[in-house]
Amino acid sequence: MSLNLTDITLTYPDGDTRLTALDKVALDVPKGSLTAVVGPSGSGKSSLLAVAATLITPDVGTVTIDGTSTTGMSRGELTDLRRHKIGIVFQQPNLLPSLTAAEQLQVMAQLDGRSPARARTRALELLDAVGLADQARRRPHQLSGGQRQRVNIARALMNDPTVLLVDEPTSALDHERGAAVLDLITRLTHQQATATVLVTHDRTHLTAVDQIAEVHDGRLRPMALTR
Ligand SMILES: Nc1ncnc2c1ncn2[C@@H]1O[C@H](COP(=O)(O)OP(=O)(O)OP(=O)(O)O)[C@@H](O)[C@H]1O
Ligand SMILES: [Mg+2]
Repeated sequence: MSLNLTDITLTYPDGDTRLTALDKVALDVPKGSLTAVVGPSGSGKSSLLAVAATLITPDVGTVTIDGTSTTGMSRGELTDLRRHKIGIVFQQPNLLPSLTAAEQLQVMAQLDGRSPARARTRALELLDAVGLADQARRRPHQLSGGQRQRVNIARALMNDPTVLLVDEPTSALDHERGAAVLDLITRLTHQQATATVLVTHDRTHLTAVDQIAEVHDGRLRPMALTR
């Protein structure tokens, strides 16, 4: 089991009271499997990813990654854990305008002290894996929206994460490109054996997922697979 959330409750300050964003949420995501999280706007999907990413500490509950509970870890330990075990794909690619596709990936590895040559090799391998081998020298403005999203996904895989967390990767894409990005995430989940959580509004693409969970007012419940 690679990602496990147990009894997660998260509240945010809201005037004089607190707003419950996640209410006793439990989720198991095994290695090499893909879980889709769906639900209306404001239901708690991004909050769930932020807790799973250890970016927000919940009021109650435990996040376990690769068998290790993150409860009580210091900020430094959490930063280290994220750097080595967690890949995060935010909705907006946030690529650096002045860097080529390959360099966007290399920066990640160099932050982590890998040699430039190894970082370059890994970056080119991953760009190839996402179908962008021939775009490695292009900068973001020379890429399409779908291509930028693929660079974003490849970048999240640079640290060989155990857990891959993806927030609405298809919302800016047309149906066909959205389907291609979903196929890519499914394939990478199996190839790289990540425990993947994918937040999406778009249920039409959810044919190849292993588990679907729906969030409603901060509560998570399993949904039947439609295949
Ligand atoms: N930093 C914050 N401070 C206070 N309230 C917040 C904060 N972040 C989110 N919320 C509230 O928590 C609830 C869940 O928000 P969240 O961003 O997790 O929803 P979501 O399901 O990702 O929505 P969307 O589909 O629109 O992205 C919402 O009511 C939101 O207003
Ligand atoms: Mg969100």
